[in-house]
Amino acid sequence: GNKNVQAKLVLLGDMGTGKTSLVLRFVKGQFYEFQESTIGAAFFTQVLSLNEATIKFDIWDTAGQERYHSLAPMYYRGAAAAIVVYDITSMESFVKAKKWVRELQRQGNPVLVTVLVANKADLETKRQVENEVGEQYAKDNRLLFFETSAKTAQNVSELFYEIAKRLEKV
Ligand code: GTP
Repeated sequence: GNKNVQAKLVLLGDMGTGKTSLVLRFVKGQFYEFQESTIGAAFFTQVLSLNEATIKFDIWDTAGQERYHSLAPMYYRGAAAAIVVYDITSMESFVKAKKWVRELQRQGNPVLVTVLVANKADLETKRQVENEVGEQYAKDNRLLFFETSAKTAQNVSELFYEIAKRLEKV
């Protein structure tokens, strides 16, 4: 059979962690060293075809700057999936990611597919957050976990395919 699923997907996380870059890598296969900071939020769509279903993602890429924090509920409300991004070279961004996870747990949808993403994995020499630390936090909070690089494309399609596979089942 062939099922069509339309799913709202939101990206959350500290400024500069690479939310826009991950989306542009997924949607356009592009990466910019000097990606501009998002104002408010940006909207993208992308379709992924699986064996049994076609998933059409409506993607809300939110702005990480603190002054936009209060807008976030508009974007995660009604979402089927959320990607919470931190930057492996910034412990501060990991702390912020944990705050987003708690906010989603408190106010979000209980069946939300939530993914913790450790981005900028290409910057291994500047790493501040060990892979195991992110992975353990994800496990304790029942989140999917990926280490990615929007720059090299490491794990980016895997991330979105995994979300699509989870959404196919709901
Ligand atoms: P806000 O819109 O401010 O919330 O930022 P953002 O989370 O959307 O980050 P953005 O995609 O704008 O990326 C910030 C900077 O990090 C840009 O200069 C990107 O080129 C860079 N960047 C993003 N992803 C990666 C990555 O995987 N590796 C490296 N080395 N740089 C990255």
